[in-house]
Amino acid sequence: MPSQSRIHRTTVRSLLGGVGVLLAVGFPLSATAQDPSLAPSGRFSVYRTTAAQTPPMGWNPWNAFRTDVDETKVREVAKAMVDTGLARRGYRFVNIDDGWALKRLPDGRIRIRDSMFPSTARPGSVTGSFRPFTDYIHGLGLKAGLYTDIGRNTCAQRWDAESPNLPVGTVVERQVGSYGHAVQDIRTIFADWKFDYIKIDACGVADYTPDVAPVKAGLYQASDPLIVRGNIPASDPNAVEHLYAVLGDAVHQWGGEDATMSICAWGEALSPLWGKMRGNLWRTSPDIEFTWQSMLENIDSVIDGALYAGPGHWNDPDMLAIGHGDFDVEHLTEARAHFTMWTIMASPLLLGYDLRHSPAALLDIVGNPEAIAIDQDPAGNQGVPYRSGAAMVVVRTLRDPGERAVAFFNRGTVPIDANVSRAQLGLASGSAATVRDIWAKKDWATTGDTITVKLPAHGAILLRVAGTPGDPDAVWLDEMPARINVAVDGLTQATALPMGQFPARIGTAPDGTPLHGEGAGASRGIGAFANSRLEIRADRAFRRFEVTPAVLSGHHSVRFRVYADRKLVKDVVAGPAQTAVPIEVDVSSAKIVELVALAPGGVARLPMIAWGSARFMR
Ligand code: GAL
Repeated sequence: MPSQSRIHRTTVRSLLGGVGVLLAVGFPLSATAQDPSLAPSGRFSVYRTTAAQTPPMGWNPWNAFRTDVDETKVREVAKAMVDTGLARRGYRFVNIDDGWALKRLPDGRIRIRDSMFPSTARPGSVTGSFRPFTDYIHGLGLKAGLYTDIGRNTCAQRWDAESPNLPVGTVVERQVGSYGHAVQDIRTIFADWKFDYIKIDACGVADYTPDVAPVKAGLYQASDPLIVRGNIPASDPNAVEHLYAVLGDAVHQWGGEDATMSICAWGEALSPLWGKMRGNLWRTSPDIEFTWQSMLENIDSVIDGALYAGPGHWNDPDMLAIGHGDFDVEHLTEARAHFTMWTIMASPLLLGYDLRHSPAALLDIVGNPEAIAIDQDPAGNQGVPYRSGAAMVVVRTLRDPGERAVAFFNRGTVPIDANVSRAQLGLASGSAATVRDIWAKKDWATTGDTITVKLPAHGAILLRVAGTPGDPDAVWLDEMPARINVAVDGLTQATALPMGQFPARIGTAPDGTPLHGEGAGASRGIGAFANSRLEIRADRAFRRFEVTPAVLSGHHSVRFRVYADRKLVKDVVAGPAQTAVPIEVDVSSAKIVELVALAPGGVARLPMIAWGSARFMR
């Protein structure tokens, strides 16, 4: 497994201490053609889990209350989630965020702040127990989540310094993060307290450097940062991944495979690339603020990441800001647009406003069953974007044959038209289609090859389209991103992408340029770097695989290999300036098909490549 080899390098580095700096400098080394990680695995090697088969839905108090969270509020919101009907619509998790921990005791256990969570106090118990709380939540038919940090301290200790609800005691007692206590904490949270979900933050390894004021003042122990915010090369992705891996193992051990593991490293330290190996969901961006601009940035952090998401593993552009600021009840257009984008992107739907006093108009948005059904579609495909000026059109392939969801979204403040063609929807040109407008709750009649809509400022339209697939026997790779795992991405320091860009993408090269070089239909392919390996769950459903491999950059030839259940079934070399040649491969009865692109040894800047016009035939 690639990530394990990364972790191994970290170990080597830390063993060598300072001497090892030249070895990795905080950046995963690229795979080389000889690297065992480029050999076929025969597996779909993502986080082992039965949880989060669709994106998690629920509520988290952070956006409403920050550390001013107490048991009465959380219980009442949980009750409101049931009474408003949201629970019936799929909202299930009630998560406690930062602010619950009072101190770490000398034996390593954590004492709960029972002044805020009174039911946790137990005669004779110094720690207290969340059992009465989780029993209550479970009694409502809901699930409960809790929060910790991979470092020694949490985010509120650093960023909500004025809060009256921060941990108390000595420097060591205030170390309520899980660093050095991973197994003990996870065991308590899952085995004793019976939580179902854990959100694991990362400020403890980012924000307590020797130079910051509270550390200088002796309030917190200094630690060298594993995450330097916004700076991947200065961060240590290997070490961060390793800490999450240890916690993920502990979650498996004490919570079982049905426990949900949420990684909150804000897209830093390449977490969107390895998150799928280590948890069920991972943040791709900084915290959402209650502004349109912040929401756009969070969309952009995730919109090209379809190859990284699927059942059990989801990109997380953060909790919903609906109910606040630019998305409050005075801004229903924006609230609807926000919800539209989260559902089309298969994002977790975690509400963050006070549900005890929800305006009905907001419940109509977040409780719209047809919008929720798109988010929760069992195929788990994240939508794929087309952009044109301020307009974004995002197409999501749903489970049922010929069914698509499409979101039209206006980023700007000027009304615009947006359109989508039958071809972009993967539907037969000129065929009839039924169109359901999910916000207007109306069916439309369509004719012609293009659906055109008018979008007001910040407007969005969400449609469910049912039609005839372009070729009923073909499934293009862009229609099945949830069944593709980027097992090795070929990312190196030389090819480093800006934060937020994914090294394997649908429809474009990793740098966003078109998949030129192999002719018509090219955009229906995958762009990646050489020295990459994709695992595809074919699930014995296909007879043939057709693809046009091409080299998109550099001056080197690339070897393209296709494996069916670890057996090499095609091995071709394509040169940089060569006309691309389509290939066909028999994959009948293969469970896992793997696509490996190999650059010759010693190439510093790995070429970008395309698996162009790629499709399976039934
Ligand atoms: C941030 C995190 C937020 C919230 C907060 C708690 O790092 O992204 O979602 O959990 O910490 O302090």
